[in-house]
Amino acid sequence: MPDVSPEALHIEDLDVSYGQAVRALHGVSLTVPPGAVVALLGANGAGKSTLLRTVSGTLRMHRGAITAGGVRYGEQRLNGADPVTAVRAGVVQVPEGRRVFGGLTVEENLRAGGLGLHRRAHRDRTARDRVFSLFPRLAERTGQRAGLLSGGEQQMLAIGRALMAEPKLLLLDEPSLGLAPQLVRRIGEVVAEINRQGTSVLLVEQNAAMALELASSAYVLEVGEVRLSGPAAELARTDEVRRLYLGEDTTPEPAGAAAPAKGR
Ligand SMILES: Nc1ncnc2c1ncn2[C@@H]1O[C@H](COP(=O)(O)OP(=O)(O)OP(=O)(O)O)[C@@H](O)[C@H]1O
Ligand SMILES: [Mg+2]
Repeated sequence: MPDVSPEALHIEDLDVSYGQAVRALHGVSLTVPPGAVVALLGANGAGKSTLLRTVSGTLRMHRGAITAGGVRYGEQRLNGADPVTAVRAGVVQVPEGRRVFGGLTVEENLRAGGLGLHRRAHRDRTARDRVFSLFPRLAERTGQRAGLLSGGEQQMLAIGRALMAEPKLLLLDEPSLGLAPQLVRRIGEVVAEINRQGTSVLLVEQNAAMALELASSAYVLEVGEVRLSGPAAELARTDEVRRLYLGEDTTPEPAGAAAPAKGR
């Protein structure tokens, strides 16, 4: 079993814009401690994917740019890094929307995840064995075209492909989006297992209940700024998170009932 990655991700006072007009992130600071799962919540358009792109070096592909602040993984500055530099540093993103190469087989998709790392063949095999033990379904379908897999299987392949690069920090963008509840649970278990094996995780999730259960700490983004942050269990108790992200009714109990829930 690999050791826990000793590095922390530090994002400090980050501003990101797309073109001249769209300021997507403003003054965002966030830390993923070594070996942690950190959840990132927020409404549509809050800037969650933008933050992951900034860390994985894929921002430029989306015509975005850092205008202030910085991203550091351990001692390595990732500001303006390209995806290859980020992957070599151990930081790998699974993009939103389970993008797999539909025309390629499962096996070819996995191989693509390890490309460019110039490592020995036995490392590739070890990485692939890890993917297949996490996702036995993929092992049964190595020769199948990825485009023919179910939505859940495609998401597993997208995660598997990222794992082929043996990340120390995995960036997951809404892995459970559009999946049935049973598969959402399965994805949650897989994320927990990946973390147990020593990989830190920054998890963007619309399923806040799942994310807050897995994570040790969490951040809520609102229109590009950090609105709330803290230990995941504490955040899960705030009225705002319960109402907006956990779908709970937080209207105060009638007079005479138990004391109102503690605010932020
Ligand atoms: N390539 C782009 N060019 C211009 N603006 C963009 C681009 N990508 C995102 N934006 C804008 O930046 C802001 C943040 O978008 P982002 O995709 O990071 O949000 P998000 O929190 O991931 O949303 P969702 O939950 O819908 O995935 C939004 O206002 C969005 O319209
Ligand atoms: Mg997004």
